[in-house]
Amino acid sequence: MWKYREVLPIEKEESIISLAEGGTGLHRCQRLGRELGLKKLYVKNEGENPTGSFKDRGMTVAISKAKELGKKKVLCASTGNTAASLAAYSARAGMECIVLVPKGKVAGGKMLQVTMHGARIIQVKGDFDQAFSTALALAERRSELYLMNSINPYRLEGQKTLAFEVSDQLDPETLDTVILPVGNGGNISAAWKGFTEFQQLSITNARPRMIGIQAEKAAPIARAVKREENMIHPVQNPQTIATAIRIGSPVNWPKVLKAIRESKGTAETVTDREILQAQRDLATLEGIFVEPASAASIAGLKKLREKGTIDPSETVVCVTTGHGLKDPSVIARPLKSQASYNLEITDRTSLDALERVL
Ligand code: F0G
Repeated sequence: MWKYREVLPIEKEESIISLAEGGTGLHRCQRLGRELGLKKLYVKNEGENPTGSFKDRGMTVAISKAKELGKKKVLCASTGNTAASLAAYSARAGMECIVLVPKGKVAGGKMLQVTMHGARIIQVKGDFDQAFSTALALAERRSELYLMNSINPYRLEGQKTLAFEVSDQLDPETLDTVILPVGNGGNISAAWKGFTEFQQLSITNARPRMIGIQAEKAAPIARAVKREENMIHPVQNPQTIATAIRIGSPVNWPKVLKAIRESKGTAETVTDREILQAQRDLATLEGIFVEPASAASIAGLKKLREKGTIDPSETVVCVTTGHGLKDPSVIARPLKSQASYNLEITDRTSLDALERVL
């Protein structure tokens, strides 16, 4: 993604801390598209980034800026992916890293990543929202701690490259709709900024409409959009299997409402069951394995197709934000039983038995 460095806020080339982020695949999904009644469906698979999520785009810029500013200690609150990404990039930059996570509510793969990269983990009782307010308070008290959450403007500058890439990978004139899962709302607002900048630079003529998807019981932004309200009502005790977007009080909500309104987009909610079904559909029909929060974009697309909000003729890009291996816990929530066999192949007769079950 550093090919876009002219529009990224880093002064010196030698400040750049990179793990070869960006350049993720934009996959045409014909089999899933057919199921959903769409001719042109694409998945922008951000799980292909170095730490397995879109967060790396923002992190490479923010850590490079931290280096330029002479920072030595970085801090974030996270539902897991920001923490995994920050832990990796701070290790590469030789900085100390502290992450605050909601106790017991972070997917196993993400905890493994943070541990492996040597970050200091502080588990906070409560939800992400409590972890975030603690991180904010800590950064205010201790000026040596540089806060790397998505209120850090450099993170969002990096994340806007998603829109640049999609525009370059696809003929921008034909792109109608982009669908993203929404937690804190940094990604959808950064993507909108990217599409807007490419239009301002006359690289593209049109901007797509932006659609944000939230989990039903963690959906303050989607509710505000549906009720045509100008502010959100935070959700106490948000719940969803998609732990990455289990957020009741998203900090970037004003930017999200602006992006959705300016682009004439919308927002939708999906249930955990719909999320799990979409995750399975994408994996079995297209060979793309994403974590539950990412599958929310596919589940949302399905719902909006059924409602007629999205037309069969539209070109749609669903952004899948994180890799499926991040969260192995979904194995305990099977949608339908999948046959598995334990056979010891010892002789010809057991081979015959194997042949019979196939
Ligand atoms: N998808 C995944 C896999 C995420 O990890 C997140 C956010 C989102 C979607 C939502 O993005 O917050 O920009 O609207 N994860 C954050 C974290 C909160 O701490 O890793 P957003």
